Amino acid sequence: MSEPKNSPADTIRIAPVGRLRGDFQLPGDKSISHRSALFAAIGSGVSKLSNYSSARDCGSTLDCLEALGVKIEREPELIVIEGAGLNGLRPSGRALDAGNSGSTIRMLSGILAGQHFTTVITGDESIQRRPMRRIIDPLTLMGAHIEAREGNFAPLKIHGGALKAIEYAPPVASAQVKSCALLAGLFADGVTTVIEKTPTRNHTEVMMRECGAAIEITKTEEGERISVEGRAPLGALGDYTVAGDLSSAAFFIVAGLVAPDAELRLRHIGINPSRTALMDSLRLIGARIEIENPRIAHGEPVADIVVRSSELKGDLELSGPIIANLIDEIPILAIAGARLDGTLLIRDARELRVKESDRIRSIVDNLRRMGIEVEEFDDGLRLKGGQQLRGAQVDSFDDHRIAMSFAVAGLIAEGETEIVNAGAASVSLPEFYGLLAASGAKIEYR
Ligand code: S3P
Repeated sequence: MSEPKNSPADTIRIAPVGRLRGDFQLPGDKSISHRSALFAAIGSGVSKLSNYSSARDCGSTLDCLEALGVKIEREPELIVIEGAGLNGLRPSGRALDAGNSGSTIRMLSGILAGQHFTTVITGDESIQRRPMRRIIDPLTLMGAHIEAREGNFAPLKIHGGALKAIEYAPPVASAQVKSCALLAGLFADGVTTVIEKTPTRNHTEVMMRECGAAIEITKTEEGERISVEGRAPLGALGDYTVAGDLSSAAFFIVAGLVAPDAELRLRHIGINPSRTALMDSLRLIGARIEIENPRIAHGEPVADIVVRSSELKGDLELSGPIIANLIDEIPILAIAGARLDGTLLIRDARELRVKESDRIRSIVDNLRRMGIEVEEFDDGLRLKGGQQLRGAQVDSFDDHRIAMSFAVAGLIAEGETEIVNAGAASVSLPEFYGLLAASGAKIEYR
């Protein structure tokens, strides 16, 4: 096997692993990194962001902000952003490119709707297939005018302007939609309220508080009401360290559980309860996951996570509101499911069909290639555990989380697993294969 590199070639081969050991910190949370850049840009004063995510997606957010005239210095360990203030963005001379990043296009659109100029924003092929009506609807109600292909797809041409505050209950459980409306609310006249029936990650709300926005959250029978006052100046984030990414940690958590003779320690990881359903669910089936040194940093809970090889036993049935909490972790959960002595059933996860790839299809297709019997539903899958994964050629379908999930599958498969388009992992974690190899995995780059 050749030496592991940090930037993988497009096809990799991964061999079954005998032992896995690691103790490391992961780059910053992707969701929090996007938000830290957006808030730093529209706040006042200088923000210095440490442990900003190395994900290609988070680079796309910085590129778009620069195109809007925001001054950004990218040092190796630090991103320094000079806040332009709520009214300081400038028209971009070209269309903004969100790349593969749904968070970038959907959240930034909220800010663009509040500008007194027109912006075109688009992204790669996958972004141009993903639904945007979910953000167009609330922004239109607020008074923005948005042109989109078939009224639903990027490129989006956003004619911003004076916005009015609205009360809005998104029909889909989506943190991106909630955040888009709340960010637009910062530019609106009056108090904008988002009513969330199913809770989703709350990093926007936490960060709004950190920046001094007037945000109020109340629990009611119809759900959580999140209200923000518009046109009030935002402070800087200042010196801000982004917590490590729990959704990236998820691949190492499952690897540590299913690989033989494994112990992995992941330091300074964000453990916001709106993101911990994967760990909670895995614990129910016997996962040995320990949380050490829990603390709060910038309003976000963080801790060190230690995982050890575990016998996974029992049935795991996930449906309803918990799905939103682990939506990004379902691909890697399916790999744990293949190891489970019991049945894994996922329902109510239709949203997976409109992620970076159709993730239900991608998971089912790759699992079948690896010899696993799996039932596909419109909104999920059922997988009888105790089956043996067999090395095969699988595809990332240009989806970072599919690439990383099947690399973990390769660790416990019989024989070698080849992943085509494995480089997609860089969209969220360019360091992934390097860290896995440093922990003991044998990875060959083709
Ligand atoms: C994200 C929200 C989720 C998640 C995505 C990041 C965010 O998307 O899947 O990876 O940062 O707000 P949806 O809002 O579409 O559910």
